[in-house]
Amino acid sequence: MRKLVAVLLTLVLVMAALPLTVSAQGGEVNCFTDQEARVVVAAGAVGQELELTQAAAARFMEACPNITVEVLETPDLATDRLGLYLQLFEAQDSSVDVFQIDVIWPGDLAEHLIDLTPYMTEEEIAAHFPAIVENNTVDGKLLGIPWFTDAGLLFYRTDLLEKYGYDAPPATWEELTEMAQTVQDGERAEGNTEFWGFVWQGNAYEGLTCDALEWQYSASDTRIVSPDGTIEVNNEATIAAFELAASWVGTISPPGVTGYGEEDARGVFQSGNALFMRNWPYAYSLGNADDSPIKGLFDVSPLPAGAAGQRAATLGGWQMAVSKYSRNPDAAAAVAVYLTSYEEQKIRAIEGSFNPTIQALYEDPDVLAATPFFGSLYDVFINAVARPSTVTSPNYNQVSTLYFTAVHSILTGEEDAAVALELLELDLAELLGK
Ligand code: GLC
Repeated sequence: MRKLVAVLLTLVLVMAALPLTVSAQGGEVNCFTDQEARVVVAAGAVGQELELTQAAAARFMEACPNITVEVLETPDLATDRLGLYLQLFEAQDSSVDVFQIDVIWPGDLAEHLIDLTPYMTEEEIAAHFPAIVENNTVDGKLLGIPWFTDAGLLFYRTDLLEKYGYDAPPATWEELTEMAQTVQDGERAEGNTEFWGFVWQGNAYEGLTCDALEWQYSASDTRIVSPDGTIEVNNEATIAAFELAASWVGTISPPGVTGYGEEDARGVFQSGNALFMRNWPYAYSLGNADDSPIKGLFDVSPLPAGAAGQRAATLGGWQMAVSKYSRNPDAAAAVAVYLTSYEEQKIRAIEGSFNPTIQALYEDPDVLAATPFFGSLYDVFINAVARPSTVTSPNYNQVSTLYFTAVHSILTGEEDAAVALELLELDLAELLGK
């Protein structure tokens, strides 16, 4: 213990002694080392993610020229990305230093990550939403610095709602189903045979867990596994909600939706071929890009309410974590701290509509001008429903895999909803030792 305290104290003193540099944006940057180092960051490449991260890495290198940052592109689907990370971690591979990790992974990946608390001031940590900091803290260690947060939203075409005489986006899933069918029939009759009512994430992966939790929670006020560890997947309202979702496949949603990830849904919506889309905030700035056919023709709202009378948005989001196997943990931490800083979150919020995790940015006029719904839908982000990753850790990924596999079998018609959920309940009980 004494030794640990001594080491920590030395670290703090060394860090305090290192000169701060200033970025081109005017923010203070701490490079944490004056040694030459190379840092590889495993990052997402959904939408504009990769370009934005590369630009941020370039800004960091200007401020800390002794550190070279390389951004490694990783698979789009969260489940595939986790598979890659697990391979690297299990081999104790030191070739990747910084990992962009999902909000559901700190518990499952804890043993492979270092504590980042010594690299941040209390004030810097406290600037982020406390719930996300808490989520990322395992056994007192801050394993990921919050980078951006996510919540499921309904994207809808304002021009088409007006054309068909609707004055608001749907309030319930039933209303969504009817509106989608009416507009789809109308647009097809006018010759757009490619047009669909509703696109979403139906592939068997983590994204489907997010969509299905929204259907489930809005219908039944239950959430896969409750915060106190009760398994809650098998109930009438959830069965009915999943049956409704299955009825969309091949009617208001393309038959191929059961193979869709985020980018597939965005592809259809952004090309002008869907009325509604369930997706994350990143799709907003891309949809409004100059070359987008739907620029200025859509808006976002909370997802519709289910039988429980409530709307639900699944909480998502990503953090920057440093691998325990990194050979340059100080340089890696410097990169993680910089990428998640106020100035970088501001750039991502404005250029990519990525929701900041730093609360003050929700009052920043530049951010609100670029992405007005950060203000108007603030409550949706604050009240988003968490997946049961903390309560089931380190088995969350297995819980989610059982869940999305069961939901997928309902969507494809392989399994009856009531049977699938009864079996799921048994499988979860076995996995969690209940
Ligand atoms: C988004 C969310 C993440 C979620 C993933 C599922 O990236 O931020 O939390 O797991 O989508 O596809």
